Amino acid sequence: MNVTNKNKNINVCAISFFKIFLCIYFISYSVSTKSINPLSMDTDSINNGAELYKKRCSNCHGINAEGKNNGFFLSPNLKKFQKGYTRFLNILVNGYGRMPAWGGKSELTDDQLNQLAAYLEHISYEKKNW
Ligand code: HEC
Repeated sequence: MNVTNKNKNINVCAISFFKIFLCIYFISYSVSTKSINPLSMDTDSINNGAELYKKRCSNCHGINAEGKNNGFFLSPNLKKFQKGYTRFLNILVNGYGRMPAWGGKSELTDDQLNQLAAYLEHISYEKKNW
């Protein structure tokens, strides 16, 4: 084997390692960005969540979740929400600052909460931490 052939082998080897590295990188990236919400990305859930959102949240947060000034307080833009699924459930169940638990209405089931989360994830600008 002459010198040029040896170099070629080293190059092929480096390229394969690079490909493997890329694969691992993309797999870990997609795993870390996938929401733990069991209904995340589910089309029916997103649609149900949109209905629920209109009924239960849009009064305060605006019809498109873009946030709203209610005179006394500002309800945040939920498309920017980046605190993740667990934090979302916590906010809904326990209330948060000036937001009453369940948005001040009757309790929601786990499925309804997940549908709302799926909807808000769907319309959010950044889906990385949902
Ligand atoms: C009565 C008005 C009202 C209703 C109804 C309401 N919210 Fe809120 N929400 C607020 C206010 C005000 C805040 C900000 C609280 C603070 O910062 O003190 C808030 C905060 C939040 C946050 C945290 C946002 C952030 O960036 O930290 C989430 C998530 C949220 N609301 C989701 C919902 C969902 C989902 C619904 C419908 C089930 C809902 N809210 C219904 C008033 C409301």
